[in-house]
Amino acid sequence: MKFGYFDDERKEYVITTPQTPWPWINYLGSEAFFGLISNTGGGYCFYRDARLRRITRYRYNNIPIDNGGRYFYVYDNGDFWTPGWMPVKRDLAFYECRHGLGYTQITGERGGVRVTALAFVPLGTNAEVHQVKVKNTSGGPKSIRLFSFIEFCLWNAYDDMTNFQRNLSTGEVEVKGSVIYHKTEYRERRNHYAFYSVNAEIAGFDTDRESFLGLYNGLDHPKAVAAGQATNSIASGWMPIASHQLNIDLQPGEEKTFIFVLGYIENPEEEKWEAPGVINKTRAESMIARFADDARVEAALKDLAAYWDGLLSKYSVQTGEEKLNRMVNIWNPYQCMVTFNMSRSASYFESGIGRGMGFRDSNQDLLGFVHQIPERARERIIDIASTQFEDGSAYHQYQPLTKKGNHEIGSGFNDDPLWLILGTVAYIKETGDFGILDEQVPFDNNPDNTATLFEHLKRSFYHVVHNLGPHGLPLIGRADWNDCLNLNCFSKEPDESFQTTQNIEGRVAESVFIAGLFCYVGPDFAELCRRRGLHEEAAEAEAHIEKMRQAVLEHGYDGDWFLRAYDHFGQKIGSKENEEGQIFIEPQGMCVMAGIGVKEGLALKALDSVKERLETAHGIVLQNPAYSKYYLNLGEISSYPPGYKENAGIFCHNNPWVMIAETVIGRGDRAFALYRKIAPAYREDISHIHRMEPYVYSQMIAGKDAVRHGEAKNSWLTGTAAWNYVAITQAILGVKPDFDGLKIDPCIPSDWEAYTVTRQFRGDTYRIRVKNPNRVCKGVASITVDGKPVEGQVIPVAGDGGVHDVEVVLG
Ligand code: BGC
Ligand code: NOJ
Repeated sequence: MKFGYFDDERKEYVITTPQTPWPWINYLGSEAFFGLISNTGGGYCFYRDARLRRITRYRYNNIPIDNGGRYFYVYDNGDFWTPGWMPVKRDLAFYECRHGLGYTQITGERGGVRVTALAFVPLGTNAEVHQVKVKNTSGGPKSIRLFSFIEFCLWNAYDDMTNFQRNLSTGEVEVKGSVIYHKTEYRERRNHYAFYSVNAEIAGFDTDRESFLGLYNGLDHPKAVAAGQATNSIASGWMPIASHQLNIDLQPGEEKTFIFVLGYIENPEEEKWEAPGVINKTRAESMIARFADDARVEAALKDLAAYWDGLLSKYSVQTGEEKLNRMVNIWNPYQCMVTFNMSRSASYFESGIGRGMGFRDSNQDLLGFVHQIPERARERIIDIASTQFEDGSAYHQYQPLTKKGNHEIGSGFNDDPLWLILGTVAYIKETGDFGILDEQVPFDNNPDNTATLFEHLKRSFYHVVHNLGPHGLPLIGRADWNDCLNLNCFSKEPDESFQTTQNIEGRVAESVFIAGLFCYVGPDFAELCRRRGLHEEAAEAEAHIEKMRQAVLEHGYDGDWFLRAYDHFGQKIGSKENEEGQIFIEPQGMCVMAGIGVKEGLALKALDSVKERLETAHGIVLQNPAYSKYYLNLGEISSYPPGYKENAGIFCHNNPWVMIAETVIGRGDRAFALYRKIAPAYREDISHIHRMEPYVYSQMIAGKDAVRHGEAKNSWLTGTAAWNYVAITQAILGVKPDFDGLKIDPCIPSDWEAYTVTRQFRGDTYRIRVKNPNRVCKGVASITVDGKPVEGQVIPVAGDGGVHDVEVVLG
């Protein structure tokens, strides 16, 4: 069952009922000001950091689930309703939500009044703009009242939901004309305030929640709206809100437009006040003026569309598959931008106060984003590397506002360092900017202790080399990619975090996955050494990689597949010898991606084992058989009921590793079949089972052992976005940035006849036409660029800023 449809022309997903199987959300903003908005107008916004600079309040795990956001109430002669359906839930004659790239437009109609509310964050602006159109669709004149509503958060979102003894006494606002200012804590250490304005004269306002709602009412029945009259309340402590009342008269067929701006302003210390206790509003007023009329809003919207057209034109594909085209050309890159911006901080599953930017996550997010805005990727790499320690280990997370490592979670995740090599290499391959390696980057954010980025990568590489276990495989530390395989934790107390409690320095528990990752990223590190003229270092690195490869073949293979790990006692994990958890997906994907066991035939066997033991109709589960009880020596993985999350859920993040692995051994049919199983557009028809948004990936789909097999969770913020993007654009469609040019190496379904990829790369545009006359999966017979044959598979950089026609014949 579907709850909407794709409008590819407008690059939108159009939701046709407010009652989706879960709130289906979108993100506003792509620079510093961000909003989350659901298909009924729920959600919140923040400046840079969802924890430290939350602008509007949102209650997670609410009842009903998505209650609170930017709402517009219509009061029409005793009746009142909300065009997004929530929170009043009065029946609508028409409802539609269009989620587009950086904007959302919700339309609702009732009783001859149609309201269309568009929300977006204009480029270069720290504000949400809400353009609200009110139209009389009835046969007679209408006099309605429109009430806006948002609730302010007292900035620090964690404090806001815990420290009530203080917070209920600190709230302060100012009202001037049609603008409501939120200035809590501005009198002391804050130099920022928020405001909500409208470009029309108001008939009233409210800034005190209790006055607007009534103490015992919910958002579905605000007292002021029910009465059709705002109370002009001025909040003092308690809960500050912003609500404008507009009295609107409309002739039949007439439409009026109102523009609301919900903005964030910072004032320099010496310019904070215009009079004692009165905030300086100059900056707010000039921001409001920028969106004073429709023409200016439409222009800002056009700029946003042009911005996205530009980003999306970096890579586009035309194949015979409509769903594939819309994933690659619109939604997957869009999600990659969002994950790049948010890491794992703020979604409808991430509260914005739990996690900041992840070291491993952000490096992987880069893979799907770097071609969009390489300069921002560059900046991110430096930020991430600045949280690394001298020995190559790293803070697992940092806060986006301060960019400092997060002490609560600390370090000790032994895969982390390697992802920095992967992220940096992806950036260099995209841009050719080897100069980034010479940047001076601090350790642990200490400006007095810096080294080149290249040196940081070297520390990353050698952190693995210096931390090997009894089998010559990497020590796992707190966990590797699988945060829930906690082999040194042994937690018996219910309130302990599996990620931060204990980390026995037994130096026994080893990860085959990290070994695979080391062999996957290592050769690029060696190549960087070589290009810097460090031939001995390159050879030394290669010797370490070769040794690791041997260690995996000797101690990391279990007969038909790669082992997962050795535990604290030196016992195998992910082995036939185990009762449960006999085979894991991660090492099968990563070791084959690294080419381990390919020539020995072990890679093929491993991937066949994946097919046989892990594959389901909804994707590949993480391991099998699922753990049915809690294993003290394994940690969080066995804490989940079978089939969910890391305990044999379908983790959409590592499914693409298997897709890429399949392309390594040339099975394009398999790779693409696996792609289709989890790609959201392909799952749209089963939205009633999948439940999450059909336009973006979710972290997890419940596995075959789960009660609710096929049901997704944790949509949006997941490394799934970047890795599926890499799998489809680079491994399957086969257009892959390399140090010296674009490498062409498709591995496609054998029944594909032809397709075209248009790729902008280092200033040039390549129109790559791939033909498959002999219906093969893989193998390039010839390449020509502008009619001239090319040796090998790398198209050299033209460097003339022109458009180049590339003909690729497979065979
Ligand atoms: C989740 C993991 C996540 C980890 C982060 C666990 O509860 O299952 O997916 O990576 O928390 O701390
Ligand atoms: C989500 C975390 O953000 C990511 O870092 C981790 O690799 C996966 N879960 C798997 O545990």
